[in-house]
Amino acid sequence: KRLVVLVSGSGTNLQALLDKIATDGTSGYGAEIVAVGADRDGIVGLERAESAGIPTFVCRVKDHATRDEWDAALAEATASYEPDLVVSAGFMKIVGKRFLARFGGRFVNTHPALLPSFPGAHGVRDALAYGAKVTGCTVHFVDDGVDTGPIIAQGVVPVGDEDDESALHERIKEVERRLLVDVVGRLARNGYRIEGRKVFIP
Ligand code: GRF
Repeated sequence: KRLVVLVSGSGTNLQALLDKIATDGTSGYGAEIVAVGADRDGIVGLERAESAGIPTFVCRVKDHATRDEWDAALAEATASYEPDLVVSAGFMKIVGKRFLARFGGRFVNTHPALLPSFPGAHGVRDALAYGAKVTGCTVHFVDDGVDTGPIIAQGVVPVGDEDDESALHERIKEVERRLLVDVVGRLARNGYRIEGRKVFIP
């Protein structure tokens, strides 16, 4: 299966996918990353792709007259690589109806909290501020809401009394990377079925 991975930052989730595919091989893992896209330049995530010899593209909101045109451009750029599955690994933009029209049902996201708790761009900070004793990460299909799509898998991470946001986020990311690699591989190898809010992977 062909994957396009979308990033906005350090790309450690992308790196986990790259490392797994390097270890297992494309046939072993069941997928290859055919391109990495970003909403901004100059991020380590793009460097990781370049180091792995993977084509990259950047689609910046400010380069487009409207948000809708950005959405369409992102969909076009992504579609040009003919992905079977698109993975948002720390991609920090909300895609619109144009992107979802093309990739809805085969677009997964990883979120650093146990959805439906703490959706949005500050899930780690919000869980900490709330005083949650456990938090975690969620891999889900993207729908037209913010972090509201059908959940595929979740991982639980304890919150330490002394945690600050970065310490907690790093602990979450250790679990998140493994969860994402496992889920993407299973979706690619086994296929899947989405029935309402339920996801079945044979
Ligand atoms: C991940 O924890 C992701 O869930 C969140 O931002 C982080 C991105 O990390 N949205 P990286 O870019 O994969 O290192």
